[in-house]
Amino acid sequence: MNDFIVDDIGALLGDTVSISEDDIRKNLELPKVREHGDFAFPTFFLARIMRMAPPKIAQEIYSRIADKLPFGCIESAEAAGGYINFKVSPQILSQKLLAEIYSEGEGYGFTNEGDGRNLTIDLSSPNIAKPFHVGHLRSTVVGSCLYRLFEKLGYNCIGINHLGDWGTQFGKLIVAYKKFGTEKLFEKEPIYALLDLYIRFHKEAAADPSLEDQAREEFKKLEQGDPEATEIWKRFYEYSLEEYKRIYSILNATIDEYTGESFYNDKMDDALELLERKGLTEISRDALIVNLEEYGLGAALLKKSDEATLYLTRDLAAILYRKNTYDFAKMLYVVGSAQALHFKQLFKIIELLGYEWHTDCHHIEFGWIKFGKEMMSTREGNIVFLNDVINRARELAKEIILEKNPDIEDAERAALHIGVGAVIYADLAVRRNHDINFSWEDALNFDGNTGPYLQYTHARLASLERKFEKEVTADIDFALLKEPEEKQLMLTLYRFPQKLKQAAEDYEPAVICGYLYELSQNLNSFYQKHRVITEDTALTNARMLLMRCVRTVMKEGLKILGLEPMERM
Ligand code: ARG
Repeated sequence: MNDFIVDDIGALLGDTVSISEDDIRKNLELPKVREHGDFAFPTFFLARIMRMAPPKIAQEIYSRIADKLPFGCIESAEAAGGYINFKVSPQILSQKLLAEIYSEGEGYGFTNEGDGRNLTIDLSSPNIAKPFHVGHLRSTVVGSCLYRLFEKLGYNCIGINHLGDWGTQFGKLIVAYKKFGTEKLFEKEPIYALLDLYIRFHKEAAADPSLEDQAREEFKKLEQGDPEATEIWKRFYEYSLEEYKRIYSILNATIDEYTGESFYNDKMDDALELLERKGLTEISRDALIVNLEEYGLGAALLKKSDEATLYLTRDLAAILYRKNTYDFAKMLYVVGSAQALHFKQLFKIIELLGYEWHTDCHHIEFGWIKFGKEMMSTREGNIVFLNDVINRARELAKEIILEKNPDIEDAERAALHIGVGAVIYADLAVRRNHDINFSWEDALNFDGNTGPYLQYTHARLASLERKFEKEVTADIDFALLKEPEEKQLMLTLYRFPQKLKQAAEDYEPAVICGYLYELSQNLNSFYQKHRVITEDTALTNARMLLMRCVRTVMKEGLKILGLEPMERM
């Protein structure tokens, strides 16, 4: 990873105080006032060790480094309050950085920290036999973004869709299917037909409670592998997957495996046996549980009194299976905050089993996303179907782009990418632990912190290259890139690898969104003052290289988020 500025600051300071390069890296800040420098090193954390007030320490350190300046890419420094501020030489910066980004291209920012190890991501995981609804949108887009991010850090990611494809609700559906299902129902949009059957079941069961017993019976048959029940269930499964796969391709979801809850039907016994052997289970009110009271996690229910297994039982079988199969370095569960207790129980049980890898398992929580009333389906109460969201996004995006550019080629395709980009970005740009109040106006605002704005930034850069007509090369006069706006762009480009690292450490796509937005704004400030293609060939060539590098980072960032880097808009 390119870290030459930090390296130089480290080497410079390293001679005067004993602090590790890692400490320097962690502590470097952006100066509050931009004019004061490009990087600020705070000395406050040294006060205890050096027994001096921070401003004195800053003075002291400064006096020891002053006669070594300029040093590497550090042009100058000054002590200010408790800080030492550094200024980077634009020429060395451009020479080192732009050449690197130009030659590495999409690889810029790649680190091999994962070293090819497996990282499993449990994502999306809708409950089948109903249309995909927005409840699983965040998991899908956050999970897919983390997948691409960790691949960029050298992990081998495996995206696992833990479909909700098992449980008594399938008994209900089988009953409804046998009683009220007709072939005609499934001719068009079978996924909605399944939803209607489910709703019908509940209506009828209100009048005739015996249907509930029949449903339990049917599910029992399914669990035991009864051919007829299995056949019907498979049909539900296939209808669902067909619909979901269509949606996943639109969302750029990264799913490698569809191993849902049903997959663990024959694997739960082994898992339960293991727990029993380790003496972790007990019977409480006829149910099989792991008592986690002493950890403040209540009772983890594994089998009900009627022997029925539960969601947790299947997750237990799944985590053991995944460890066995993939020997993961990390296992991420991208699931809403509502399930925090469930995952705490799961990981605690793994810990109690004596497995140290319980610390590699993480629940990547997130809050709610709320769409306006207009998006709510009347068919099933207040549920918003993703298909409706996608269609609306496409429509609205089309209106906007046709207004901006009536001659745009393939408006349908562009509208889909921009509309969906707006929805994905609105989902990622808000920190995971916050809820989202989705607004079409905000998400599709071409001038705000939105997907379309970033896509537009990329398209503008692409159009600049078309206009330039020649090959962009790194064979330029680096000294020409000396405007403050150019330097600012370069300093931001320099931080891309660090930002990726930080996003990965926090499992937080919003860090990448914030970064790309800042890069776009830097670019705007540059455009406002300077032109790229002018009569001055040498300067044009130099600026084109800078623009290429901005485009490279923007494109790569958008791809990690799952947005299409538009060539034209
Ligand atoms: N199907 C579940 C739900 O809709 C999410 C599954 C999450 N993954 C897991 N391994 N439990 O709530």
